[in-house]
Amino acid sequence: MSIISVPLEKAYRLLNHGATTIISAQSDEIKNAMSASWVCPLDYDKVSAVINSGAYTRKLIEKSGYFSVQLPVFTQKDLLFHLGENSRFSMPNKMDGIEMFYQDGFNVPLVKNCAAWLICRLIDEQEMQQKYDLFMGEILSAWADSRIFDGGHWLFETAPDELKTLHYIAGRTCYLDGKRV
Ligand SMILES: Cc1cc2nc3c(=O)[nH]c(=O)nc-3n(C[C@H](O)[C@H](O)[C@H](O)COP(=O)(O)O)c2cc1C
Repeated sequence: MSIISVPLEKAYRLLNHGATTIISAQSDEIKNAMSASWVCPLDYDKVSAVINSGAYTRKLIEKSGYFSVQLPVFTQKDLLFHLGENSRFSMPNKMDGIEMFYQDGFNVPLVKNCAAWLICRLIDEQEMQQKYDLFMGEILSAWADSRIFDGGHWLFETAPDELKTLHYIAGRTCYLDGKRV
């Protein structure tokens, strides 16, 4: 075994294999979604997300004060890259054909067929948002597909690959989780 040096610009990848997400939001009847891997728990009822200033979805979050975080699965790999490589600013029809739904009581669109969904209220921290592109949200409600998450636990060891979440690293490469130890 040897301990190798990791260049600083690649160091984030050491921490970056948590499940990759899709963030969606809606304002004035416009709904949009973008891929996001820099999304983390901040507390039991809070999340943080780094959302670049060029993202259309960010404008919808700033306007509406709400966003959702969902966990796409293996069969949605192409969708993940579509939503992450195309901005609605340059592709106005980006969301055409993408199926979304709503949960009762929330006007925040959710992407169908994901493994799980969280709806969050933006915690308005302008300095964090402007200076670090860091958005924080209070989780208002969450749901999961019981085939892959049940009883408070992921079921990666028994679920088929199609239902497993995507763990994006870089260069269009993802991992699927598997073993419970
Ligand atoms: C796998 C993947 C992960 C990404 N993670 C992030 C992220 O954490 N934060 C971010 O600001 N952009 C991230 N992006 C880029 C955005 O998804 C991209 O800027 C997107 O085009 C924004 O869409 P919009 O302008 O329609 O909102 C990621 C892209 C991919 C493909």
